[in-house]
Amino acid sequence: MRSLLFVPGDSPRKLQKGLESDADALILDLEDSVAPDAKPQARAASLAFLTQTRTLPRRPLLIVRVNPLTSGLIEADLDAVMAGAPDAIMLPKAEGGVDVSHLAAKIAVREAENDLPDGATRIIPIATETGKGVFGLGTYAGATHRLAALTWGAEDLSADLGAETNRLTDGSYADPYRLARALTLFAAASAQVDAIDTVYTGFRDEAGFRAECIAARRDGFTGKMAIHPAQVAPINEIFAPSPQALARADAIIALFAANPGVGVIGLDGEMLDRPHLVRAKRLRARADRLAE
Ligand code: COA
Ligand code: MG
Repeated sequence: MRSLLFVPGDSPRKLQKGLESDADALILDLEDSVAPDAKPQARAASLAFLTQTRTLPRRPLLIVRVNPLTSGLIEADLDAVMAGAPDAIMLPKAEGGVDVSHLAAKIAVREAENDLPDGATRIIPIATETGKGVFGLGTYAGATHRLAALTWGAEDLSADLGAETNRLTDGSYADPYRLARALTLFAAASAQVDAIDTVYTGFRDEAGFRAECIAARRDGFTGKMAIHPAQVAPINEIFAPSPQALARADAIIALFAANPGVGVIGLDGEMLDRPHLVRAKRLRARADRLAE
């Protein structure tokens, strides 16, 4: 998954537009982009969309962002949308492994009720939306087989911290958010799942958006969430492994394969050892998955 496009769940028009975009995944939102009074309508529209879309021969992955565990809304959210067999549930304000295990139990009940295969529905937590969530980042590893990826949030975190802003005047994140972002990468590596970068709210600022995508790829994120269809193409382009990077990865893999038992080797004036081989194999595996 390179691009994950948020679509307000109560907007059939935007749901349709989302489908026409080239996003790898759509996140049907029942949480913050839907007003309290519109939640029932958003559940109904999202279920209708899931039902229509899931049988299409070519379709994006379908993810539903439900309301938080403590909202009093999540039971009704899951009751509605699990009948549409989403590929994954995104959990906002997640605070660690206990929360995703709790959600996994709720999902398992609905899978049984809807004759869905046990374990088919994956979970993607937004893991840094509260201070407590940041401290829970180390607890996702091993919590549930449903864990598909981890992502982070800077908007709700700034609200939880009582901060004036989360960005400096030059557009870069202030220290607390840089820390949350970095810890998300460590948490994802520890849980052996993909790390997905958070949204960029300035949807007319293509230069700033591209720079943030490139920085995310550099640091190990494998994709980014989008809030506007115009953000999808840059994400897909930037997070697809480049032909040059793939050629180099293949050369490294071939070199080690041709020299079994060798731990360290030189290529184009650079020392290569195990971490370089691991990185090359990961890039090759990701490219193969994207090509499928
Ligand atoms: N998904 C699907 N379609 C979208 C979209 C989205 N996230 N955002 C915009 N569009 C559509 C619009 O409906 C519009 O199509 P139309 O003219 O045929 O109606 C077209 O793309 C261009 O939109 P634009 O005029 O540039 O933006 P806008 O002012 O209509 O909408 C937002 C701006 C921010 C309200 C909108 O992008 C949005 O709803 N984003 C998602 C918000 C969200 O889910 N937030 C929660 C996670 S942080
Ligand atoms: Mg939010």
